[in-house]
Amino acid sequence: KQKLATSWLGRSFYFFEEIPSTNSYCKTIKMEEGLHGAAFLTDYQTGGRGQHKRKWETSKKQNLTFSLVFCPQRKDGFILLTLACALAVLEAINDLEGLQAKLKWPNDVLVDSKKLCGILTETQFTGNQLEKIIIGIGLNVNQSKFPASLDDYATSIALEKGSPLDRETLLANIFLKLEKRFHQWENYNPRLPRSINKHMIGFGKWTRLSVNGEMLDGKHKFLGIDGTGKLLTLDKDLELNTYTYEQVRVFL
Ligand code: BTN
Repeated sequence: KQKLATSWLGRSFYFFEEIPSTNSYCKTIKMEEGLHGAAFLTDYQTGGRGQHKRKWETSKKQNLTFSLVFCPQRKDGFILLTLACALAVLEAINDLEGLQAKLKWPNDVLVDSKKLCGILTETQFTGNQLEKIIIGIGLNVNQSKFPASLDDYATSIALEKGSPLDRETLLANIFLKLEKRFHQWENYNPRLPRSINKHMIGFGKWTRLSVNGEMLDGKHKFLGIDGTGKLLTLDKDLELNTYTYEQVRVFL
């Protein structure tokens, strides 16, 4: 708490030694006043969920595993908000000496082409009223070993830096960056998508995409995101295309 320099984000803070999933927990809470920007952190998640219904496994007491709940004024652009969170994580990592993190669309943070952080954003509605947005972040901080099947795909900050680091200080810095990026998101600030694109892997490259399940090889130049967070491409007929998160997967 002493390290926290935010004005509202993470000021309500809940810690669980062990929990099935911080995102699932957040789904069960009622959004009361003061919970906007609250953080739910655990040291051991036993049923962590990832994107595309995958599992998210993380070692005990070594990483940062948390969810944030928001009840924003803005009711659109959730992909952009997810990317804003990924950007905040990236900025906190790049503040550490010797690390150069990158963003991978739609919401991963990589170092050295290996995944360091994954984000799972979920929205909850009562009727058609948005009740809350839950942003779940899993960041590999001090984990030193990964299952062999993940060896080529996953890494941690400690493995990349060669030394462990203090998770609290890092978390406080992530919250600080996130608070700033959150305001940019809420205010439709064009600096936000610009900063995201600056760090995006594959920007300007001809890439493999699958659109609505159909594989398109090398026909689209990847241009990052547009102002709303949609994926932007230029095709061989020099047409600009935008795709939603649901429509497209990118293979870089
Ligand atoms: C992904 O890359 O597939 C997203 C992983 C998201 C994992 C985090 S860990 C905290 C929060 N609680 C969950 O059950 N999942 C998210």
